[in-house]
Amino acid sequence: MKISVIGAGYVGLVTGVCLSSFGHRVTILDKNNSKIRSLTKGNSIIFEKDLPELLRKQLKKKKLLLTSSYDDVAQNDVFIICVDTPFINKKPYKKNLIDSIESLLSVISDDSLIIIKSTAPIGTFREIESLVNKRKMKKNVSLCVHPEFLREGSAVSDFLNPERIVFGTSNPSDIDLFKEIYCKDSFQEKILIMSPESAELTKYAANGFLATKISFINEISRISERCGADIEEIKLGLGTDSRIGDQFLNSGIGFGGSCFPKDLQSLSFKKSQLRLPDGILEAALDGNELQLQNFVDKILEFKKENKISFENFSLCIWGMSFKPNTNDLRDSQSIKLVQKLIKHCKKINIYDPVCKKNEILKQFSNNSKLTIFNEKYKSIKNTVGLVIATEWDEFKNLDFDLVKTKVIFDGRNCIDKIKCNKNNIQYVGIGRG
Ligand code: UGA
Repeated sequence: MKISVIGAGYVGLVTGVCLSSFGHRVTILDKNNSKIRSLTKGNSIIFEKDLPELLRKQLKKKKLLLTSSYDDVAQNDVFIICVDTPFINKKPYKKNLIDSIESLLSVISDDSLIIIKSTAPIGTFREIESLVNKRKMKKNVSLCVHPEFLREGSAVSDFLNPERIVFGTSNPSDIDLFKEIYCKDSFQEKILIMSPESAELTKYAANGFLATKISFINEISRISERCGADIEEIKLGLGTDSRIGDQFLNSGIGFGGSCFPKDLQSLSFKKSQLRLPDGILEAALDGNELQLQNFVDKILEFKKENKISFENFSLCIWGMSFKPNTNDLRDSQSIKLVQKLIKHCKKINIYDPVCKKNEILKQFSNNSKLTIFNEKYKSIKNTVGLVIATEWDEFKNLDFDLVKTKVIFDGRNCIDKIKCNKNNIQYVGIGRG
C-alpha cells in the first residue's frame, strides 16, 4: 500500500516510520525543508526511544521516503494528516490542517482516502467534508477520523502495541482499506469502528479523563499534606482497586506537554460554543494551576521560615522537559515553575539530561539569572535547595555525598525521603505530611 503521512512532528514521524515497518511504502511530507533534509540523512529530529534505529532501518530498506513537495505524494492511495492543531488566542487553530487538505486536494487522484489523525476540534470532520465536497469536483475522495493515543517517550512501542485503534467513518466501504493499513492479525480485533464525531470526541475524552485523574490525585495530595497523610500510601490504597487502576495517579507539580492542557482547553471551548456550563474539565485545568502554585508556596514558605534573604536564596532545578524521556519543552510545568520562582531568587541553576541549553533559555524572556549546566552535581553547588521538576530515572538514586543543599523540594515524589533526612537534608515533597 502507498501511504503518505503529512506532517513530521511526533505523531507523523512515528506513524510514518512504524507503518513503513509493516511493509507499506510510506512517504512523509513536511513543509519544513531542513527537517526533511535531516530525516533523509537518518537523523531523528526528536528525542524518542527506538525511533532513530527504526528510521534508519526503514530508510535503508527504501520503504520510507521524505519530501516537502505535494507533487511527490500525488500517486499514493492513503493520506494521513498529522499536522499540529495548536490552541492560539483562546481558540483551536486549524489553519495548518485546512491548508494541508487544500494542498492535497489539488494533487491527489481518484479513489483516495484522507485520514485525519491530528487532534482536531470536534466538528472539524464535517467542516473538512464540506470543503472536500466543494473542491473534489469529480474525484472520489473519502474522509475519516483516526485519533492517536501514543505517548511521548514510549511512542514507538505504543504505536506497535496499541490497546485500541479508533476509526471514525460515515462510509462503510472505507473499512476494508483501513484494515489493510493495520494489516497485522493482532491489530484487527483492536479496531473500533464508530462515527467521525464519536472518534473526534473519544480522543478528547481520553485526554480529558487522564488529566482529570491527575488533577484529582493532586487535589487529594493537597488535603493529604495538611492532615499528616502520605499521598504515596494513598496512591497504593487507591490504585490496587482495579476499578480505579494505578496509572496516572502520580502526584506532582501537574500535567503539561503539547496535549493535555491544549486538549482540555479545546474541549472547554467546544462546551462554551454548545452553551454548556463549566464543570469537571475546567476544574481539572484550574486544579493544575493550583497544584503548581501550592508547590511554589511551599518553597517560599521554607525561605521565610529559615529567614533566607533574597541575596542568599539560590535554587537548582532539575528537569525541564514536560515529562521524562523526552526533550519536549512545550507547556512544561518545569518552565512555569522557573517563571514563578525567578523573581524570588538571586539565581537559578538548571540541569536537564537532554534539553539543549539554547532551547531552555529561549523559554524565558528574562534569563539573566539562569545558568544551564551539563553536569547535575555541579549545578547544585552553592545553592540552598534542589528542586526536582521532572522524574528522570537518573535523579532517583541520588549520590548524597554530592548533594550539600539544606533542602530538597521533590516536585515528583521520586527521591527517597528517609535517605534525605538521614543525610540531614530537609525533604519537602508533594502530599507528604
Ligand atoms: C498524552 C496521552 O497520554 C496520550 O495517550 C496521547 O496520545 C497524547 O497525550 C496526545 O494527545 O498526543 P503525553 O502528552 O505524551 O501523552 O504524556 P503523558 O504521559 O500522558 O503525560 C502528560 C503529563 O501528565 C506530563 O506532564 C506528566 O508528567 C503528567 N502526569 C502523568 C502526571 O503528573 N501524573 C501521572 O500519573 C501521569
